[in-house]
Amino acid sequence: MSERREPEMCVLLESDWARGSLVDDVRRGLTRHPRTLPPRWLYDDHGSALFDRITRLPEYYPFNAERAILAAHADEIVSASGATTLVELGSGTSEKTRLLLDAFTGAGQLTRFAPVDVSEGTLREAAAQIADAYPGLEVVGVVGDFTLHLAHLPRGGRRMVAFLGGTIGNLYLEERSAFLGALADLLEPGDSVLLGTDLVKSTDRLIAAYNDEAGVTEEFIRNSLTVVNRELGADFDPGAFSYIPFWDAHMERIDMRLRAEVPQRVNVPGADLVLDLAVGEEIRVEISTKFRVSKIAAELEAAGLDVARVWTDEPGDFALTLAVKP
Ligand code: SAH
Ligand code: TRP
Repeated sequence: MSERREPEMCVLLESDWARGSLVDDVRRGLTRHPRTLPPRWLYDDHGSALFDRITRLPEYYPFNAERAILAAHADEIVSASGATTLVELGSGTSEKTRLLLDAFTGAGQLTRFAPVDVSEGTLREAAAQIADAYPGLEVVGVVGDFTLHLAHLPRGGRRMVAFLGGTIGNLYLEERSAFLGALADLLEPGDSVLLGTDLVKSTDRLIAAYNDEAGVTEEFIRNSLTVVNRELGADFDPGAFSYIPFWDAHMERIDMRLRAEVPQRVNVPGADLVLDLAVGEEIRVEISTKFRVSKIAAELEAAGLDVARVWTDEPGDFALTLAVKP
């Protein structure tokens, strides 16, 4: 029996990074139209806990759909990848990832697991739990931003980079192609990407998944204002906004906004900003793009990766695509 190894942690975000980057994001985002807040600010400790509740909501089908694909096909994924290092971007609690880790360790194939997330507390806890559950596995947690720090991913061995949960759909179109291009560039021939994407389906089911009865998603989106209040001394009144999720049929994405219900002046001293919001003015907090299998393949190929396999769940709600760097 191998020894449990303490997870190693690699912190790429300096302690003042978050605030500096938040100031830039808030200045840029809140002064353009539609006003936006960038989504990585959703995942403070409270936001991460709310996201965990979202994954258990009856309306939120993507989590179970992706888990079903992993449960059915993890062995094939692992052998098709031939990887000895698993990197996971936006790993969160790495709950579903255990299905991959089980298959990897069953095949005696894996030596290293490197989860990457901006949410340090969640990452530390997840890395420790995985190190406990998989003795002998080298666990390297990377506290970093996958849009900025891809060049710092662990090297050596054949790598598979998993990006699950449909998180790629939370990037805007330009960010998505820049991200995929940067990822493809840093991989070595034979390395692969395992990409989880939610698929286009009936508008009713899509909207329900982001507008649950219990109001957890609404609270998650509203929490972005609380983060700006806390970090930048702003005086947003979260109760003065209503939650507006809608399906943008042209862009094929859910668009999640907060709409001012009363005219209001908001001070954001940390960003040197005063906002006057009229009734009905909206702030876009998050998008969640939905895909078609052909679109995923085209984007991966455009980035310079070869699609090897695509797996979907039985109802065709979600896809996992394995693409290899030639
Ligand atoms: N992979 C998990 C969690 C998805 S939620 C699942 O499938 O259930 C998205 C995760 O990505 C959160 O843990 C969040 O903290 C992280 N995240 C969001 N933006 C990020 C960024 N720019 N860089 C790194 N991690 C990010
Ligand atoms: N990647 C997930 C998704 O787009 C993240 C997510 C789930 C999410 N629920 C959310 C993001 C609600 C914002 C709001 O489905």
